[in-house]
Amino acid sequence: MLGSARAWLEEWAEEGLEQADAPADARGAGAAHPAPAAAESTRDRAPSAATRASLQAVREELGECTRCGLHAERSQIVFGDGDADADILFVGEGPGQQEDRQGLPFVGRAGELLTQMIEKGLEIPRSSVYICNIVKCRPPGNRTPLPDEVAACSPFLDGQIAAVKPKVIVALGKPAASLLLGRDVPITRIRGTWHEYRGIPLMPTLHPAYVLRQYTPENRKNVWSDLKAALARSRGEA
Ligand code: URA
Repeated sequence: MLGSARAWLEEWAEEGLEQADAPADARGAGAAHPAPAAAESTRDRAPSAATRASLQAVREELGECTRCGLHAERSQIVFGDGDADADILFVGEGPGQQEDRQGLPFVGRAGELLTQMIEKGLEIPRSSVYICNIVKCRPPGNRTPLPDEVAACSPFLDGQIAAVKPKVIVALGKPAASLLLGRDVPITRIRGTWHEYRGIPLMPTLHPAYVLRQYTPENRKNVWSDLKAALARSRGEA
């Protein structure tokens, strides 16, 4: 459905974005999309051993977790993926079927869209950001995680955030934004506005699965603008 990088960017540009907002290569008629920039575009240092060790410590503490009922039906724990020293940390809701199979977050349809937004929209490699979820095991039928499941898992999300120390957190969708803000938030109203989580700038935006379901120019334009703001802030440009 998403097609090639250029087609995808042109679709975003044609259906919702100002030309000036489109990534540079989406503006030129024949321009080929460049390979995602080297990780140095957002990272100017090698991953620190301390950060890796700390993330590893969080993973070890999680173990073969049975703290909530979600363990019963999972194939495997989906801990997180990406740069342990990332400037941007994305938080989603919970693993879906593909994630449960592969052991990696955001590798299904919603993940494909998130990856496209990161690599073809922001023009940074997916491997330069860190991606995780509020719960690490797949809720049956992809239902929203229950409060006790979120509560059991949230110390591990806190541990991941503390280990990575991102410059910006992007909360994908209402459950992630509500957890990190400590209250039930209307995501369509608060998206695009800056908040803080433990002193770290937090940008709530729409979940990619929601964007796939409601594939409107307005939703695409809004997510694009939120992600651009997050990238700029992570680079100290805003
Ligand atoms: N895949 C994930 O890993 N998390 C989500 O929230 C949705 C899909």
